[in-house]
Amino acid sequence: MNRRAQFLEVLGIPTEWVPRERADAQAEAAPEAAVAQAAMPVAEVTVAEVAAVVAEPAVPVPAPVAPPVSRAPVAPPLVPAGPEPGLAQAGREAAIASMEWPALDAAVASCTACGLCQGRTNTVFAVGDRQAEWMLVGEAPGENEDQQGEPFVGQAGKLLDNMLGSLGLARGRNVFIANVLKCRPPGNRNPEPEEVAQCEPFLRRQIALVKPRVIVVLGRFAAQSLLRTTTPIGKLRGTVHSYEGIPVVVTYHPAYLLRTLTDKARAWEDLCLAREVHDRAGAGA
Ligand code: URA
Repeated sequence: MNRRAQFLEVLGIPTEWVPRERADAQAEAAPEAAVAQAAMPVAEVTVAEVAAVVAEPAVPVPAPVAPPVSRAPVAPPLVPAGPEPGLAQAGREAAIASMEWPALDAAVASCTACGLCQGRTNTVFAVGDRQAEWMLVGEAPGENEDQQGEPFVGQAGKLLDNMLGSLGLARGRNVFIANVLKCRPPGNRNPEPEEVAQCEPFLRRQIALVKPRVIVVLGRFAAQSLLRTTTPIGKLRGTVHSYEGIPVVVTYHPAYLLRTLTDKARAWEDLCLAREVHDRAGAGA
């Protein structure tokens, strides 16, 4: 059996389907709700500012309430206000951009930069080979991933493993898998722009450290976030994009493919394109 037939078989397509007229199915073409809006300014910051910013949680931790002891007038605060929010964010991004793996791991594990930290069981850093030539980027952890602390471990993950297998790849072997968000949005709702803005520096650093030959982006949300666009996924597929100089190929999310038989053959075309891009990048290396 050739690879294409093998791929279609793992996707549950026994015979080839005629592609429908409708280019993109509803779920993937849904409105561009939550694309990160924030630009990533590179600002000069001092080491002291960076340390203060990284140490400080963005989600306020409620202070213990002391019982009232007197009716004396309230004194003005002795501690001056912290850095302006824009500067704080720039400092945080600069700090993350210089982290090596252990610091990055620890920063994700202890992150309180958005409200998702309050509902998580585990952060989901990534899985795989940190020197991989292939990097896959999904949207955000679901329930299973939140429980196990690993990306793509549910039904969609099984399909993803099969898709990798049909390319001769495997999770953890020359493949690194991460998500745009490291914490699960409650009820698997779409990520909010602010959550993406806070989490994106982690993904940016992961990509910079792995330096893959090709990035395969899984699904509309991850594609629009990474490429900072509102273009529908049907238009993003089929061409090679670039993220920080690394070629990016967009394909459908495996959870979507589980529901949408007709787009499965297209996913195979996307992976073939990614393979081509990967091999080309290797030839030039
Ligand atoms: N969907 C994703 O986008 N990522 C996961 O890790 C799991 C499901």
